[in-house]
Amino acid sequence: MEPSNDTGVCIAHVFRGTFAHSTPDAPLEILENKVLGVDNDGKIAFIENGEDVDSLSDKWGFKPSVVRQLEPHEFIMPGLVDTHIHASQYSYSGTALDLPLLQWLATYTFPVESKYKDLSFAGKVYNKVVKRTLRNGTTTACYFATIHTDASLLLGQIADRLGQRALVGKVCMDCNNAVAHYKETTEESSEETRRFIQELLKKKYPLVRPIVTPRFALSCSSALLHDLGDIARNNDLHIQSHISENKEECQVVKELFPECKTYTDVYRKHNLLTDKTVMAHGCYLSNEELQVFREAGASISHCPNSNISICSGLLDVRNVLNHKVKIGLGTDVAGGYSPSILDAVRRALDTSKALTIQDPEHQTLSFEEVFRLATLGGSQALSLDAETGNFEVGKDFDALLVNVCAPDGPMDICGPEPIKVLLEKFLNLGDDRNIKEVFVAGRKVVPFADTA
Ligand code: GUN
Ligand code: ZN
Repeated sequence: MEPSNDTGVCIAHVFRGTFAHSTPDAPLEILENKVLGVDNDGKIAFIENGEDVDSLSDKWGFKPSVVRQLEPHEFIMPGLVDTHIHASQYSYSGTALDLPLLQWLATYTFPVESKYKDLSFAGKVYNKVVKRTLRNGTTTACYFATIHTDASLLLGQIADRLGQRALVGKVCMDCNNAVAHYKETTEESSEETRRFIQELLKKKYPLVRPIVTPRFALSCSSALLHDLGDIARNNDLHIQSHISENKEECQVVKELFPECKTYTDVYRKHNLLTDKTVMAHGCYLSNEELQVFREAGASISHCPNSNISICSGLLDVRNVLNHKVKIGLGTDVAGGYSPSILDAVRRALDTSKALTIQDPEHQTLSFEEVFRLATLGGSQALSLDAETGNFEVGKDFDALLVNVCAPDGPMDICGPEPIKVLLEKFLNLGDDRNIKEVFVAGRKVVPFADTA
C-alpha cells in the first residue's frame, strides 16, 4: 500500500480514547482523550490530542472512519513482559509445589524436561504455553526451553508463528548429580549452543531472538560457563540464568566456587554479567552484589509466585530499586504456578506487604510501581526498551485493549470511576476475559487467528 500523504508513512491502526503507561519519570501516566496511530511496520507513529483527529487524518492520510473509538470502560496499556518463564515446565504448572528448590528440580523438573527430546511432545506443550501467555497479555516472554536444541528451535518457531516477542534459551548444563541422563558434556553444550544461535538467527524471525542460558552455577562447570561467556560476548547476545534463589543453593555455590567472593562473582568472572544479562530471583543478594549488578548494567527478574510457592525467599524490590538495578517481573512457571503476569503483579504487591509486616519502616511498593515493573521495567530488564515497554513514538505498538466490564468478567464496576481506579481494579481483579485484544508490533495476535 502506498502512503496517501507526504509523511511517507502508511497508517494501519488509529485508536482514540484513554491510554495508561509508565515512563522513566512516572510509574503511571494516564493519557485521556488521545489519538494514537500505528504504522504499517507496527510502530507508534503519533500520539496526539483527540480533538486533532481531523488534522491528523489530513497529515497522515487515514480516513476518519478508520479511527477506533474506545468505550468509557476500555483503555489501552502496554503489553505485559514476562522476564523469566520455563516454557518446558508449563505441562506441570499448578502442581508439585511441596519441595524446596534443589529437591524440586531433582524430583519434578529434570524428569519432565528430559522428555523434550520428543519433538511432538515439545510442540504440544510449547503451543499451549505461548497461547496461554499471549491470551493473558504477555506480549514479550523470556523463555527457558530445555537442553534439546531442536525442541528449543521449535519454541522459537511457535512464538514467531503466533506473534509473540520472545527471547528463547536452549538450556545449558553439564553437571547433574540428581538425574544423570539429563545433562550434556561441556563440548556438546557449547557446540549445541552455537548451533542453536546460528539456526535461530538464520530464520530471521523479526521478534524472536536467542539468549545464552546457563541453567545456574550449580548445573555448569567453570569451563562451560567460560565458553558461554565467550559465545555471548562474541555474538553480542542476551544472557539469562538464576541467582541467589534459595539458601541451600547459595551455600552449595559457595562450596563449589571457593575462589569466588560471592554468587554474583561466579557469573561476573565468567563474563556472564553484562548489560544484556537477566538473572532470576536474587532473593539473597547483598548490597555489594547489587552494586556489582548496577555497574555491569545487569538486571533482576522478580518471580514472587515462585519465591513463595517453593519457599525460596522474599525479594526486597525496594532495595533493588534503591540500588538502581533494572528489574522486571517473571512468572517462573512452574516454580511459580501461574503463567499470568497479572498474578505476578499481585504476588509482588503481597511480598512487599509481607516485608512491611515484618518491618513497618519498609516502604511498600505501590500498584503504580508494580504496573511499571510489569511493563516498562520488564522491557528495561531485557534491554528491549528501545523497542517496547510504553507508548513512545517510534517504539513498536505492543499493547492490550482492556475492557473492565467484559461480559461474564471477573469484576464489577458500580458507577463511573476514574481510569486510575479502573486500572487498579484490573491489576488486582482482572483476568484474560478483560483482555479483549492483544497487539505485538502492531499485529493483532489475540483473539487468535482461525489458523492458530
Ligand atoms: N534454578 C535452576 N533451575 C531452575 C528452575 O528450573 N527453576 C527455578 N525456579 N530455579 C532454578
Ligand atoms: Zn527459573
